[in-house]
Amino acid sequence: MRFVDRVDELGALFGLAERGSGVPVYLYGPEGCGKTRLLREFARRLSGREGYLVVYIDALEERDPGRAIYGSEELRRLLVEAARGASGSLGAVLAYAVTRVLAGVEKRLVRGKHVVVVVDDVARPIGLDSVEAYVKSLLRLLEYDLAEKEPASALLVASTSEGLSLERLRRHPTWLGLRLLWGMPRDGFEELASILGAPSRDAVEEAWELTGGNPRALIQIATIYQWSTEAWLHDLDISVVVPVLARIRAEGLLEELHTLLEDPDAAVTRASPRLQRLVRLLTEHNLFIYKAATTLAGKPLPPSPEQGIGEYYAWQLPAYRTLLQERLQAKK
Ligand SMILES: Nc1ncnc2c1ncn2[C@@H]1O[C@H](COP(=O)(O)OP(=O)(O)OP(=O)(O)O)[C@@H](O)[C@H]1O
Ligand SMILES: [Mg+2]
Repeated sequence: MRFVDRVDELGALFGLAERGSGVPVYLYGPEGCGKTRLLREFARRLSGREGYLVVYIDALEERDPGRAIYGSEELRRLLVEAARGASGSLGAVLAYAVTRVLAGVEKRLVRGKHVVVVVDDVARPIGLDSVEAYVKSLLRLLEYDLAEKEPASALLVASTSEGLSLERLRRHPTWLGLRLLWGMPRDGFEELASILGAPSRDAVEEAWELTGGNPRALIQIATIYQWSTEAWLHDLDISVVVPVLARIRAEGLLEELHTLLEDPDAAVTRASPRLQRLVRLLTEHNLFIYKAATTLAGKPLPPSPEQGIGEYYAWQLPAYRTLLQERLQAKK
């Protein structure tokens, strides 16, 4: 499917690529919000540009080099070479190799170039315990090893949907620039819906209200469920909401769930040990997310109570909130 919208986000990334970022950019956002598609598009458009040295690494790819890495030929070749023979998942091996290779590469390859490295989906394959050390290694690369080779600029981007990784990185505000990506804005969402053959304006409206602009959820509704949001909600309920609700019940956190369903920001404004336990549980299950960081486009994501988006926290999909509310009301 053709790439839609994201004009502001691409503009911000191109600007960073030209100026350099000083510290690594850590891009995070809900599952399926469009991080990978955006970063791939960015790397693809840049790799053809004169004066740019670009590499994109999919840290989650286990073994296929064609999928795990692409970008400027010379750098790509050095990385594939460095990863040869290493044990473990290829994406994770490449994520580590890129810091070594760029630190050791000949100066002539880098000097005067705009260097751009994207490591997508980084937190899970390297492990939450290693996220801090990994981001620090990217920082060291920017501040010292690459700087010595006199690039025109350097931008390192790492991305994840793993909300718990933020807990580790929050302790090091000077190590990185935290940026949020959310689902599509309304216009882009409507364009995507029309490409996907939306049957009516009402269908688009309903999908918007339930997904909050999440492109993957929209694609699921359009393809697997042929625009039946009822069938989509049913499966989401059975596969996600029922088991998570059972966990919440078992932990004795139903009261806290009521509180967060009413106001996600209660996680901050009415913080208590029990609410924090619930926030952690919901974050771990990718239902809830900290969203107060500046977006990649440079503005904060505005609160939207009807979509379960607060100033600090949000439900990853409005549908999770709706389904949990329905189950609590029905006491099921
Ligand atoms: N701007 C866009 N134009 C067209 N399709 C898009 C766009 N953004 C995302 N998509 C599509 O939506 C789906 C989910 O996007 P993507 O894989 O980028 O999400 P993600 O944020 O990387 O998810 P995850 O957290 O699971 O890694 C993909 O099929 C992707 O092609
Ligand atoms: Mg992704």
